[in-house]
Amino acid sequence: MLSEQGHKVDCIDINTEKIELLKSGKIPLYEPGLADYLENNIKSQRIRFFDSYSQINPNTEVVFVTVDTPSDSLGNANLKNVYNAVSEVSERVNQDCLIVIKSTVPPGTAENIHNYLSNKGYNFDLGVNPEFLKQGSAVSDFLYPDRIIIGVKTKLARAKLEVIYRSFIDKNIPLIVTDTVTAEMIKYASNAFLATKVAFINEMAGLCELLGADIDLLANSMGMDHRIGKEFLKAGPGFGGSCFPKDLSALIRLAEDHNVKLQILNSVKESNYNHITNIAKKVEYVLNGVQNKKIAIWGLTFKSGTDDVRNSPAIDIAQLLVNNKAKITAYDPMGMDNARQVLKDIEYADNAIGAARDAEALLLLTEWKEFKNQDFASLKSIMAAPNVFDFRNLLDSELLLRYGYHVYSLGKKSIYKV
Ligand code: UDX
Repeated sequence: MLSEQGHKVDCIDINTEKIELLKSGKIPLYEPGLADYLENNIKSQRIRFFDSYSQINPNTEVVFVTVDTPSDSLGNANLKNVYNAVSEVSERVNQDCLIVIKSTVPPGTAENIHNYLSNKGYNFDLGVNPEFLKQGSAVSDFLYPDRIIIGVKTKLARAKLEVIYRSFIDKNIPLIVTDTVTAEMIKYASNAFLATKVAFINEMAGLCELLGADIDLLANSMGMDHRIGKEFLKAGPGFGGSCFPKDLSALIRLAEDHNVKLQILNSVKESNYNHITNIAKKVEYVLNGVQNKKIAIWGLTFKSGTDDVRNSPAIDIAQLLVNNKAKITAYDPMGMDNARQVLKDIEYADNAIGAARDAEALLLLTEWKEFKNQDFASLKSIMAAPNVFDFRNLLDSELLLRYGYHVYSLGKKSIYKV
């Protein structure tokens, strides 16, 4: 997307397979719309791909470090890949190159990297430029950001980043310039706050169910108060993905290192875990146990619009049911290949209807639009029992009731209690 703004971009990754795919215009993951931009920019030679640091152009003006920062066993962000990338780059580019950390890193990391490079005798300027892209809508999130955050140490770094984001500044998109540690903190706090909203609404869903209130009406009405905001108030099977759980843990751990207990965020983490396990419990309760029962799962990715199953609540719920000897058949429009790597003790169907054949219950766990448009009239005749658990509140429950299904929505009046 930076090349689309007219910049000349060289991309380096040590994974040769990915680089070969990208060179041929193919994206190694599912991200709607991205392939078109890639093709255009390869053609106009604004973007190139390399599989070795040795191919870095020494005159590169700005390097964005975008490698992953996975959780270690204690929940800390593992910065091995960041340091490795920075170290490789620093040995190959001129000292006036600006090194910008785009990876999500604990507050203080850019300063630590600056010191690390200084100790090695390098005098690089460092910047921080967090991303706020959601998988599945990354292209439009890039093109229409709410704001761009840059954390800098010098005026020169600011000027260089302003050149890169010129087209956005010209469109009056707010550019917030901070020090590096504040920029790092903004990213963590934003993700933590969004995760808190999701965990909050999911707790409200649990209560709505018991009281006979309606979570969707509640969330929409709350969201109309602009102090609250309507985004990220959709009840579901819990938050997952490669960012929220990891970043939440890293922030909690970082605070602990400073002898601070982040009570709200510890609760958010626990609440999300409980919510996911409660969903499996609900299914067990309603079905009076799941042992040897055939259960269909629609949706395995952590949300729709992506093929990513990392920290997906759907995978966790499937696994909990498998542990209790349920016989699961699942289908996901995009995530099957990735799911097969992590969830081995289940069957996979070629389509949604196939997954539901002979099932005693159907669990909808990811909000893919195609699930809404199934032929539910004929689906009922091939299921062993007409139980539908809609954990995304995606389906037309009135219609399903008319067809004779037992419908268990999330955060709506319900016949069961855990
Ligand atoms: C997130 C941040 O939103 C993004 O700014 C950051 O750059 C990366 O992390 P992403 O991981 O793609 O993006 O997922 P997001 O859309 O934020 O959803 C996270 C999880 O929360 C998903 O499991 C999703 O299903 C869940 N969610 C989100 C809800 O259950 N309800 C909501 O209303 C919103």
